[in-house]
Amino acid sequence: MKTNGKVTLDSAASNFASRFSRSGELAAEGGRYIPGGYSRHSLTFGPHAIYVERGAGAYLQTVEGHRLLDFHNNFSCNILGHGHPRVRAALAELVERGYSFGNPMQHEHRLAAMLCERVPSVERIVFSCSASESCLSAMRIARANTGKDLIAKFEGGYHGMGDDFMLSLHPFRELFPGPAHNPIAVPNTAGIPRHVRENVVVLPQNDLESCARILRARADETACVIMELQTGAGGVITLERDFVQGVRELTRELDILMVIDETITLRAGYGGMQGIYGVQPDLTIFGKMIGGGVPIGAVGGRADLFRMAEEGMIYHSGTHHGHPLATAAGIATLEVMDQAAYGRINAQAARIRDTLGTWAAGKEFPFIMYGVGSHLGYEITDGSARTYRSCRDMIRRSVEPHMQTFAFEMANRGIFPMYRGQIALSEPMTDADIETFIGTAQSVLTDMFTG
Ligand SMILES: Cc1ncc(COP(=O)(O)O)c(C=O)c1O
Repeated sequence: MKTNGKVTLDSAASNFASRFSRSGELAAEGGRYIPGGYSRHSLTFGPHAIYVERGAGAYLQTVEGHRLLDFHNNFSCNILGHGHPRVRAALAELVERGYSFGNPMQHEHRLAAMLCERVPSVERIVFSCSASESCLSAMRIARANTGKDLIAKFEGGYHGMGDDFMLSLHPFRELFPGPAHNPIAVPNTAGIPRHVRENVVVLPQNDLESCARILRARADETACVIMELQTGAGGVITLERDFVQGVRELTRELDILMVIDETITLRAGYGGMQGIYGVQPDLTIFGKMIGGGVPIGAVGGRADLFRMAEEGMIYHSGTHHGHPLATAAGIATLEVMDQAAYGRINAQAARIRDTLGTWAAGKEFPFIMYGVGSHLGYEITDGSARTYRSCRDMIRRSVEPHMQTFAFEMANRGIFPMYRGQIALSEPMTDADIETFIGTAQSVLTDMFTG
């Protein structure tokens, strides 16, 4: 469906350029020293990132002085929004006492215990500074324990910036990713050595028959399968419960470890997405929300898989691993996110998803919204689909210029979504904030699709 309304890509982009012009200038200034202007490429929102001055609760204030309702929340990390009093108190207390020592502090014990209590498959856990690092650790633990070298990942799965994982995140056609049922590892960045590509087995989402065939053929060499049960960076694709159970049975049978990456999906429920599905992986990755906005990552799992680490045979260390600021902020965050808080935020997200989905279908607008928990995906499609089962469906059917128009115009009208077609809610959002999102999305879509 063409956009034939008063909002077009040109009008939305030109409004964005003038509304966020100071951000554009800052990105150019930063670019004199930092390639692209800032250290995280993924912050780019169209031509450049939106620079921020401060955040409070569900809102942030940009350098231009605009107040934006934050549905980005640092790529889903900030489940408590900005400056939650409990997190600030935990950080302030450490600022007084000191927070960088060549000695452990006790906060990491408490955070470890909380995660083990919430996620029963996790009996032991080690912290790092990012989920990227923890994914690398998981790979090492899997290789050390199985004596096998290959790892298997899904198309559309993101597990941080490690070489082994920056493959087939976006299997764009121009990269020649092979047929859907038998994908080939394709790099999503320059600089990945050939031997790394050859050591990664790529699996198709929600296609158990093909996964079984591929894994059986490489079972003797494959140490682990790593997977997000609902993807994030690769676009929101929910792996179906039966499919996930099937992968669990298959990996057990083939003596391959199953690693579930809950970096984003711990948002979905008190025990993560594995709790919702009732599946027990061998290893689990955590990140984002467990640090309350301070850098963190963790890998946890079955106690026996950590025995080699206990015996000093698997190296795991980093200057800031288990950092007290991150673990203290994480404790405060998990304390606030009790079962009731999960219930509330998930209900708010479901209201957005269901209201907008039904409304758009009624209007015959090609807008869909989907996902589980408080991190949701939306897409403007070519009109042929109301659901996606794989990232390939998404790449084929989403209409990128429409997606850009929508994202620019939401920002122009005071809402900050993720540029890649996703939103993440925060606990301080009120019913009025939810209504604001729904109303703004409806007015943008109406202005895009009706004359
Ligand atoms: C599922 C998943 N795994 C791993 C990572 C990497 O986390 P980090 O950015 O903390 O390295 C991310 C980050 O977005 C993620 O979404």
